[in-house]
Amino acid sequence: MTRPVIRSWTPPAPPALPARIAASLRRQRGVPGEIEELRAAVEELRAALGAAVNELAPLRARVEELERTLSGGFAPASETARLDLAFAQLAATAPASEVERLDLAFEETTALREALHRRTLELLALTLSERTVEIPFVLSQYHGEARVLEIGFAHAEPRYVEALQSLEIPLLVGLDLVPGNQKLAQVFSPVVGDVRTSLFRAGAFDLVLLVSTVEHVGRDNSGYGIDRDGASIDEHPDRSAIATIARWLAPGGRLLVTVPFGRFEDHGWLVNYDAAHLDALVAASGLDVASARYYEQRGGWVPCDRDEVRNRGYGSLGVPNAGAVALLELAKSPPSDHRRKPS
Ligand SMILES: C[S@@+](CC[C@H](N)C(=O)[O-])C[C@H]1O[C@@H](n2cnc3c(N)ncnc32)[C@H](O)[C@@H]1O
Repeated sequence: MTRPVIRSWTPPAPPALPARIAASLRRQRGVPGEIEELRAAVEELRAALGAAVNELAPLRARVEELERTLSGGFAPASETARLDLAFAQLAATAPASEVERLDLAFEETTALREALHRRTLELLALTLSERTVEIPFVLSQYHGEARVLEIGFAHAEPRYVEALQSLEIPLLVGLDLVPGNQKLAQVFSPVVGDVRTSLFRAGAFDLVLLVSTVEHVGRDNSGYGIDRDGASIDEHPDRSAIATIARWLAPGGRLLVTVPFGRFEDHGWLVNYDAAHLDALVAASGLDVASARYYEQRGGWVPCDRDEVRNRGYGSLGVPNAGAVALLELAKSPPSDHRRKPS
């Protein structure tokens, strides 16, 4: 909607009147009829202005009410339309001093609306989950491997599933405690089972993807419609899981693992890793750290050092997402070439 441009409003008749009276008086030198006529015109205009000022009172009250609404949250479209109309009406009828005050109110309201708009965008950005960085990380790290295992695929986000499908991976196996839907079965070769059990032979995969999943292993997965019976069977279910996964990797293979990161928290259904628990997880895998990246949510996901986010908790920004995330690329040593001759 185009806002009324109140600043360009020029008061109509009143400012011109005194000049007219003065000029007439100078010309007529007090001709009685002319003076009476002009006095009557002045009175008429004064009355009209008084009426206009009185009319302003309810409009002004309405503007104040709408401003209160705006400062308390978000005005619905119909309210903002009425506010614009109120300003337009005031601009057409108000005397100069009123217009100045309204200009001020309009500027304040505009600034308030802009602040609200900025805050809305910030809040929207805060609702972007850690998948915002996890998915691009995983996709950018795919180097054409033929045998890929995705763990936790049954609740993978559709955009992630579609992106994986577009990679046309020769063998893409999906492992989860539950089978997942029909659409997933078109993309993954589904395997139902617990990641801590011996489901695959050693060296079966060139690349394993573990996106926001290891922190759920052995925890309460009832949120995913899974019976609590699958809960912990060992003290460190995540470490058992990663040790098993490492065995499934072929020599030279890689594991891409992402976890919520910051301060250590056990939420029952997931853990938020701190540096010590993450290091222990990596140690349990026996794999080498090929790369480690950390991102934090700051009204948008930005790279950070891992020490910077040591106080970040899961959901600490008021939304049920990670406050920070660790993205690790772990690698299994390539086969040693015994046939190589010493140079
Ligand atoms: C947060 S979701 C994974 C999200 C998904 N990777 C994505 O990219 O959006 C966690 C998944 O881990 C699965 N899960 C939990 N414990 C498991 C276990 N012990 N073995 C296999 N899958 C498990 C859950 O069923 C759930 O589908």
